[in-house]
Amino acid sequence: MFNSLEDKFINQARELKRPPDHIPGKTGWECPSNIALVKYWGKKQFQQPLNPSVSMTLQQSRTVISVDYLYQPGPEKLSLSYFFEDQPHSTFEDRYLQYLQHVSKYLPFLQHTELIIKSHNTFPHSAGIASSASSFGALALALCDMERNLFGTLTEESDFIEKASFLARLGSGSACRSVYGGFSLWGKTDAFPASTNEAAISLNSVIHPAFRDYCDSILVIDTGEKSVSSSAGHRLMEHHPFAAARVIQVQANLRKMLIFLQTGNEQAFSALVEEEAFTLHAMMLTSRPGYVLLKPNSLEVIDRIRQFRNNSGLPVILTMDAGANVHILYPARLNNQIKPFMEGQLAEFCQGGKIIHDAIGMGPVKFL
Ligand code: DP6
Repeated sequence: MFNSLEDKFINQARELKRPPDHIPGKTGWECPSNIALVKYWGKKQFQQPLNPSVSMTLQQSRTVISVDYLYQPGPEKLSLSYFFEDQPHSTFEDRYLQYLQHVSKYLPFLQHTELIIKSHNTFPHSAGIASSASSFGALALALCDMERNLFGTLTEESDFIEKASFLARLGSGSACRSVYGGFSLWGKTDAFPASTNEAAISLNSVIHPAFRDYCDSILVIDTGEKSVSSSAGHRLMEHHPFAAARVIQVQANLRKMLIFLQTGNEQAFSALVEEEAFTLHAMMLTSRPGYVLLKPNSLEVIDRIRQFRNNSGLPVILTMDAGANVHILYPARLNNQIKPFMEGQLAEFCQGGKIIHDAIGMGPVKFL
């Protein structure tokens, strides 16, 4: 019926202008972070990915957001008071206000709404874990809940999540994958006809049971601010000498990843996840100008994980985001073998000995 989700939500927005008078309300959501297995790196147009990506949604690393809102007819007035960990936070407030202004074309009632948003993360403030995926995921879910409360729309779960994913993407690309539990796919690929650049979709119905209980232990190597932000890194892909080759490679990797996830091929999965992580960092190294986010301790733990894997023959998989931290993925049945290795041989290379033990999660939860 519509050519794109953009057309669909702009069209539907015509009906989202006038709820009954003066409606106050509340909503609250917890949304997890996610770890990409096939990496999104580089953008085209506005918040569209240069390539498709696949991720696993986490369980413990979440943003908790509550929104008090008051809709008032009359002159347009969108206002926001934003509190992070119970304190006013002007930088986040400006970023979220700009975001709300932008998404009000899909949610016109926002232009008549006063919002008080309170948010905190369940993971340590400076653990080097990106919070944009969980926070924009949580905010987008809260906005869809407001729409549902005010207009009685989005009553079908699939419609609700689709719109939340679309809106989350506009705040932070990786956030669109976090609105689903388990495994998600974002970005157009011929290998999965329902895929789109405008929102993520769930892969859970095709995932082999071997992957349903994967753990992710995050080795916190460095908690300092990154020398180059992810936004700047994405921009450097625009004139990257290897961008075209990366897009060809990642389309092929995506196809393979879908096959491995469906067939339960853990060994091939492991090699591919690692290739994706190293390629992401290779893109950074070979950007113009190039930069390095890995630290000496990142390399040390990578070396030790590979040695442990060679010696033990266990599927201990490593990956990285755009930062110095190293994630170890492994099936839950190996907990008793891998945790002692991490505590005994890797913790000393982590800042303050910090390792965050997380695992695949069921997705966001509404608590208000
Ligand atoms: C390396 O989603 O943080 O984690 O869209 O600019 O907010 P923005 O970027 P962001 O990029 C994440 C990149 C990555 C890989 C991934 O999550 O797929």
